[in-house]
Amino acid sequence: MTTADVSASLTAADSGRLVLPSYERPAAGLHPPLDFEGYRSTALRHPKQPLVLLPHRLTEVPKQPLVLLPHRLTEVTGPLLGDSLITATDSDLTTQHDGEPQGQRIIVTGQVLDSAGRPVPDTLIEIWQTNAGGRYRHSREHHPAPLDPNFDGIGRAITDAGGKYRFVTIAPGAYPWGNHYNAWRPAHIHFSLFGRAFTQRLVTQMYFPGDPLLPLDPIFNSVPDEKARQRLIANFDIELTQPEWALGYHWDIVLRGRDATVFE
Ligand SMILES: [Fe+2]
Repeated sequence: MTTADVSASLTAADSGRLVLPSYERPAAGLHPPLDFEGYRSTALRHPKQPLVLLPHRLTEVPKQPLVLLPHRLTEVTGPLLGDSLITATDSDLTTQHDGEPQGQRIIVTGQVLDSAGRPVPDTLIEIWQTNAGGRYRHSREHHPAPLDPNFDGIGRAITDAGGKYRFVTIAPGAYPWGNHYNAWRPAHIHFSLFGRAFTQRLVTQMYFPGDPLLPLDPIFNSVPDEKARQRLIANFDIELTQPEWALGYHWDIVLRGRDATVFE
């Protein structure tokens, strides 16, 4: 988005004051509490003081609600990554090494949508996940499952004009995480979405249907709304599934509104 685009999205009221377009806010109770009893590490890392918005409080316009502006032009414009830096192997995690990784090959695809169901193009999506054995390739990983020399567990893609993304990867494994006795995370893929500037980032997790660990997982269950929890679970899709090759999963990401995907 150029500065001119942003400026065009601002409308000048008759009074000459700037009024920003508003958006539908997600329903209360959608997002997990910052301090969730069953998710032990939140006790230490949640903010103890009310969050400070960094708004530039605009003058109240008569007969209209006060509009706060969290980001100014500096934050919502600027250099973008661009799609030229993304290669085909970035979104195919099974072809990033000379050999093929171990595990169940899967296709994960879907759309990024706004609150009105409109596709959001040009969104950089980054994913990270364990290998099939439930192990991350990370220096602080302690799970004694084997590393896979042919799998890094990191991918990137940019949504196309229809807001679509597509990854080919390996089904991640469950892993122990020490939150409580015999605590295992259900299989999941971490998703990060960048918007039109690097200050616009959303992070969440995608889960798999039928996972017996989901009812036991404090992170999944910290989302208070049942429907919002279900929206974090991908749908198995036989139409996406490719014969003799890979299982297909479909997962849409909704940025805002009452059907919003829950972000961390
Ligand atoms: Fe994880």
